Amino acid sequence: MFPSINPTSTKAWKKLQKHQNKLSKTNLKSLFAKNPQRFNDFSLQFEDLLFDFSKNLVDDKSLHWLLKLAEECGLESAKEAIFSGEKINATENRSVIHHALRNVGDIPIEVDGINVMPEINQTLAKMKAFTQEILTGRWKGHSGKEITDVVNIGIGGSDLGPVMVSEALKAYKTKLNVHYVSNVDPSHLGETLKKLDSDTTLFIVASKTFTTQETIANAKAAKSWLLDSAKNESVVKKHFVAISTNEKAVSDFGIDTANMFGFRDWVGGRFSVWSSIGLSVCLAIGYDNFEELLEGAFVMDLHFKYSQPEKNIPLMMALLGVWYTNFWRFNSHAILPYSQYLSRFPAYLQQAEMESNGKGVDRNGKRINYATSGLIWGEPGTNGQHAFYQLLHQGTQTIPADFIAFAESGFDNEMNEMLLANFFAQTEALMVGKTRKEAKVEMDASGLSSNEIKNLIPFRVFEGNRPTTSFLFKKLSPRSLGSLIAAYEHKIFVQGVIWNIFSYDQWGVELGKQLAGKILPEIKKCKKISSHDSSTNGLINGYLNVK
Ligand code: F6P
Repeated sequence: MFPSINPTSTKAWKKLQKHQNKLSKTNLKSLFAKNPQRFNDFSLQFEDLLFDFSKNLVDDKSLHWLLKLAEECGLESAKEAIFSGEKINATENRSVIHHALRNVGDIPIEVDGINVMPEINQTLAKMKAFTQEILTGRWKGHSGKEITDVVNIGIGGSDLGPVMVSEALKAYKTKLNVHYVSNVDPSHLGETLKKLDSDTTLFIVASKTFTTQETIANAKAAKSWLLDSAKNESVVKKHFVAISTNEKAVSDFGIDTANMFGFRDWVGGRFSVWSSIGLSVCLAIGYDNFEELLEGAFVMDLHFKYSQPEKNIPLMMALLGVWYTNFWRFNSHAILPYSQYLSRFPAYLQQAEMESNGKGVDRNGKRINYATSGLIWGEPGTNGQHAFYQLLHQGTQTIPADFIAFAESGFDNEMNEMLLANFFAQTEALMVGKTRKEAKVEMDASGLSSNEIKNLIPFRVFEGNRPTTSFLFKKLSPRSLGSLIAAYEHKIFVQGVIWNIFSYDQWGVELGKQLAGKILPEIKKCKKISSHDSSTNGLINGYLNVK
């Protein structure tokens, strides 16, 4: 296991604290003025991705010490540990090798002395064959009709990854309509089923554990819906398949285990889109495109594993995050894709980053006294511009943001250029702002009186100096998307190493589940409750009164 190091005890941490103090007295505009080469020095190219981090509050010295911080925190041995299948998810005694799922080079990866690649390749072959069965119409529903609609029932990692990718790659859509149901709110399934015909609908029950309350409740309701029209339990095998690590629970549910797609416990839910959890993606965009997604992730894995630290995109992403979180005390990070296709990307990253690194105890079980993951949030541009960018530009908090765009759209070029103009303009505006002088000149030119100018000027000034990172891809394709997702995964890993936390467990989600399990039978009894605090009692009793 790689060493457990308190990052605040490193030499680099102290240097960075001092340096931040110095750098806070300058600003982005002067950093650009000082170095005409700044864009060249602080941007990287990877395949068709131009990664520009020059509009960040960093200089050579900060990068030097951030790289040293990663080094002092044992990043190299941590990389060695994750890639070699060591059980770095120590609280669950598991390896963390989701990268094996996209190991298209087929290099052997061992867990407990067994190469996992043959099993992965077998599962991929099964997914491919199944996708073909459905797409060619050889697989028939119980009444002999072809499948037209697929409903993936899952939640968290068994939903967010597949739904995000299917949405992002809609341009590659097959003839199937793929729907996603996650919420136990009955309207989610109910509204989805309203549009569907049970003869032509296939359900994929996606759950690593196959015990998740929401998923099992939705799956049971879907099964009843099917049986309402088909009236015969034997039809289930034609309309239900499962993705899980829990064969017994799948079989107990009544799904034929021949129609089960497995994966292993070394895949965390939020990193499982590459596994058989990606089956709905295969059906949505075709198996070949799914394979390209894997390839895109694979090449990013190689880039992360082998490129020099100064040229390593995920490493830079992670270090910038640590720099802002721990040294500038910026506690939120916006994800702003300038692509409607990526509308679910911020939500996907919320789980990936916050469930991984939203931790307050270090790898020795000790409470930590430095910040870990901040809030991750966002919306596609330009919609966000007309909603919350006011705060980004003039609010009292600085919120570093990732801007993501694609040069080609596949649709109207004029509109796409409008979108891109906004993408370029926003990062520029956030950086340069608008001085009093500039605001005054502008208002003078618009014919305002000097009194009006005097009153309005404080509101028309933009401080600027708000950091952004730009990701400009040529095209949104399965390959580029695979690389983008994998880059964020590696970012999360590096940050977890520096923060000295366990990134691959999620104990924080358990308490709420336990309490809901206790409350459900209580509310079913329909009797006044007094066993909780007065607020919870009051709310439950309020519900019972109106029920
Ligand atoms: O509650 C959180 C969580 O465990 C996530 O980590 C996971 O992605 C999700 O629930 C769904 O779990 P499962 O795939 O086992 O249904």
